[in-house]
Amino acid sequence: SGDNVGGGRSGAISPPPIEDSVQKIDVNPPRGTRDFPPEDMRLRNWLFNHFREVSRSFGFEEVDFPVLESEALFIRKAGEEIRDQLYCFEDRGNRRVALRPELTPSLARLVIQKGKSVSLPLKWFAVGQCWRYERMTRGRRREHYQWNMDIIGVPEVMAEAELISSIVTFFKRVGITASDVGFKVSSRKVLQEVLRCYSIPENLFGKVCVIIDKMEKIPIDEITKELKSLGMSEEAIKDLLQVLSIKSLTKLEEILGAAGEAVADLKQLFSLAEKFGYSEWIQFDASVVRGLAYYTGIVFEGFDREGKLRAICGGGRYDHLLSTFGGDDVPACGFGFGDAVIIELLKEKGLLPELSLQVENIVCALDHYLQGAAAAVATRLREKGQSVDLVLESKPLKWVFKRAARTNAQRLILVGNSEWQRGMVSVKILSSGEQYEIKLDELE
Ligand code: HAM
Repeated sequence: SGDNVGGGRSGAISPPPIEDSVQKIDVNPPRGTRDFPPEDMRLRNWLFNHFREVSRSFGFEEVDFPVLESEALFIRKAGEEIRDQLYCFEDRGNRRVALRPELTPSLARLVIQKGKSVSLPLKWFAVGQCWRYERMTRGRRREHYQWNMDIIGVPEVMAEAELISSIVTFFKRVGITASDVGFKVSSRKVLQEVLRCYSIPENLFGKVCVIIDKMEKIPIDEITKELKSLGMSEEAIKDLLQVLSIKSLTKLEEILGAAGEAVADLKQLFSLAEKFGYSEWIQFDASVVRGLAYYTGIVFEGFDREGKLRAICGGGRYDHLLSTFGGDDVPACGFGFGDAVIIELLKEKGLLPELSLQVENIVCALDHYLQGAAAAVATRLREKGQSVDLVLESKPLKWVFKRAARTNAQRLILVGNSEWQRGMVSVKILSSGEQYEIKLDELE
């Protein structure tokens, strides 16, 4: 702090001396967030590659949106949990902004913005980070990545069937079977039909769904109280709760009749599931409604059959989201699949892959003055598409071998004086120990 500007000059008002004191920082990331050191990043890339490859194999195109959006995009009036979990603030231009808690509103925004310039249907996928100020539990964090696939412009159940098929494809690729996980499927039209019987206004529908979604988390008395406060009669609530306990489509048909859309849609989905070949993965469960206000039709969630974890993924149809943003309604459905619960599940099942760093070559100069030569060798190999870990300092051979073992290098290339004079280098195949000299232009 001796030479700070302005220090000690007579007459001038000097700033306080800058102290050399060390401010010890907390080396942990903010609570609920993660670092991705190399070993975790390898796993994340492995997972995201599967997301991307499955999506592409279904003919979907990748999109992304800003992580920071206008807060208004996420504010719906249905009392959703997601609203209370919003990371929101005012930016320097006094605009209310929020870190996205999900991708669907941004997708809707972009579809409206594109308007007639895109031809429907759109099949879009995204893998993006989402932020929710959650109470932390296993598989729930304040930041997570979500794989989304959405189909915009298809009113038919074929779209939902296709989406579930893509998730099943993903599960199969990573070694998860129908005895590990399943999908619970229902339709919000089930609730809608019950509410209609009791002449409950349509505009309460979203709110009722959001309340029902909390059924597993809060006591039933509390649920009943909340429903009553919306103006539902005891009788209507009793009927509603009874319908929600139904686990068979035949029973549902007995109660609602075959004429309604709910039963028709669900029957169609189960019939398509057979054709797609994933019948054993899905089951009807009227209690599934999902917690987001915008779903309007079929809803589904992936669950682990041991019941240890929270929902692995969730989605459904949201035919009216666009009009809530002032756009024209377009039929739409999609799902979100988080990166956290699936990793827990893969761990449980012993299905996490062993991923290690892997380079093809390690290149090392045997004398300090040959480092330029080693660099030239590395460049040559890299231009041929090979990966090279170049040793950047003079190091003893013992160190180089240790390093090669850590990086799982296949070949060690040593640049030594006498070989270099003859335009050669020595190569050691590290798996077999085989060793030879080779001309530089034969190296690739
Ligand atoms: P969601 O049900 O809120 O739906 O979330 C979808 C999935 O994201 C969850 O099933 C879970 O895998 C993951 N997820 C959500 N919150 C967290 C968290 N705090 N920590 C870890 N994972 C989490 C949606 O977000 C809809 N936008 C999905 C969608 C797309 N619907 C139609 N298209």
